[in-house]
Amino acid sequence: MKASFLLVPLAAFLNTSLVHAAGDAENGRLQYMSRCIACHSIDVSLAGPAHRGVFGAKAGSVAGFDYSPALRKSKVIWNERTLDQWLRNPEQFIPGQKMGYSVSDAKNREDLIAYLKTQTRR
Ligand code: HEC
Repeated sequence: MKASFLLVPLAAFLNTSLVHAAGDAENGRLQYMSRCIACHSIDVSLAGPAHRGVFGAKAGSVAGFDYSPALRKSKVIWNERTLDQWLRNPEQFIPGQKMGYSVSDAKNREDLIAYLKTQTRR
């Protein structure tokens, strides 16, 4: 009998900590729609390269996109850590790059990354 009283808060705790660890992809999608689509889309390159499959890809690998030499020559693989550094301060992370935009809020960066992670190759 008593155990069930303990299980509910434990489940709630585990649930929120897991959700947090993964980032909130829905907030990430909203962030993407308001902040990134001026230059990016998931499937078509605009002023910035298309983003489908970017998580796990080598930087500068979207065919046909005119990258800066700095980004193209970088040996960066996009993962949670590198995307976070890029979005926080692209020029500090890859000097000579040409994305004139950054995201100062750490939680928003985490959520954006969680969203990009869901946009896998079809
Ligand atoms: C003002 C236009 C602009 C905005 C806004 C912008 N970007 Fe970019 N982004 C670019 C450009 C241009 C590049 C290519 C940079 C280069 O070649 O050095 C780029 C490159 C990238 C890359 C590297 C992709 C690859 O193929 O290696 C990622 C990841 C990225 N942007 C994410 C984002 C996210 C997420 C947002 C929204 C928070 C965002 N960008 C907003 C212009 C923009």
